Amino acid sequence: KIELSKKYQDIHVEAARFYYAQLMKSKNRGYDYLRNRGLDDKTIKSFGLGFAPDGWSSLIDYLTENKGYSIEELMECGLAGKSTKYEDRYYDKFRNRVMFPIFDYRGNVIGFGGRVLDDSLPKYLNSPDTLIFNKRHNLYGLNFARKNIKDRTLILVEGYMDLISLNQYGIKNTVATLGTAITQQQASLIKRYADVVIISYDSDEAGIKAAIRAIDILQKEGLSARVLNLSDAKDPDEYVRKYGVANYNKAVKESIERTKFRIDIMKRDFDIDNGEDAIKFARKAANLIKSIKSPVEIDYYAGYVGKIAGIDVESIKKEIYGKSYTAN
Ligand code: CTP
Ligand code: MN
Ligand code: MN
Ligand code: MN
Ligand code: MN
Repeated sequence: KIELSKKYQDIHVEAARFYYAQLMKSKNRGYDYLRNRGLDDKTIKSFGLGFAPDGWSSLIDYLTENKGYSIEELMECGLAGKSTKYEDRYYDKFRNRVMFPIFDYRGNVIGFGGRVLDDSLPKYLNSPDTLIFNKRHNLYGLNFARKNIKDRTLILVEGYMDLISLNQYGIKNTVATLGTAITQQQASLIKRYADVVIISYDSDEAGIKAAIRAIDILQKEGLSARVLNLSDAKDPDEYVRKYGVANYNKAVKESIERTKFRIDIMKRDFDIDNGEDAIKFARKAANLIKSIKSPVEIDYYAGYVGKIAGIDVESIKKEIYGKSYTAN
């Protein structure tokens, strides 16, 4: 099994080299695409970005004819598929896409993501789980981030381009969950290197929902979660390109702690200028604050909610502690 893992690993390295060589051929559309998205040659090289040609079996031909691997092995690696129509016909899983090698925390290539160059779907295609790749246990970019952690703090983003863009701008303490919800295993992996996670997911509704879920999962692992506000940018990649790295760093500093984020999100469902709504919001928020143990924290968030709703903090605290509460 160990030998097989080693072999699959080698196949991934050879595939990554093949894709990179394709990208670097003159007039490659994938190369132009990445350059148009602001990536420079140094970044392309350090992330090993590549291009999967449009043909049906460019990679298969290369790896079987030039490198001596078998089609079965390529299928086990998720790089080749078998035609359902024709016997003994195989095809490259990744075609006509810019390629992002996925590394494990040591820097070994264990999978790939491939992006189309236009608006066609699916936008990204990813390697399936294989002998050497388990999506739920891996974090994209951790091999780079672990060497660049400051203050035991990591930034968590959704996508390949977010992480690569931030890295190019010098923000290297970043990992990506690649669009899926963060798992407990990934959180525990983070905990080895960090105590604080700044969630910097996309600003769309999916990103907000994912952030709320991530907060709980990180919390369970003993990590303290903060949430970064991207203002009107749709994701960190767009943000740094639009507003620059200084502003992103400022947004990191101004990221809010998880409870404030939860309260802010809760507030969106109410029209605070309407008395009835303000009361409903205050009750709901008080209910959230109830689960906090520290009296100091309770005080703080009661004050925060009171200020938003225009209600006296002592009333919010009564709501939290119940009728037995007496102010002193
Ligand atoms: N993703 C995926 N499959 C899809 C769409 C997304 O695996 N069909 C993953 C990718 O890892 C992607 C991440 O989810 O990087 C975030 O998705 P999205 O925000 O839609 O894409 P971006 O990363 O912003 O990609 P781009 O900027 O290239 O459009
Ligand atoms: Mn997204
Ligand atoms: Mn999306
Ligand atoms: Mn994007
Ligand atoms: Mn995005």
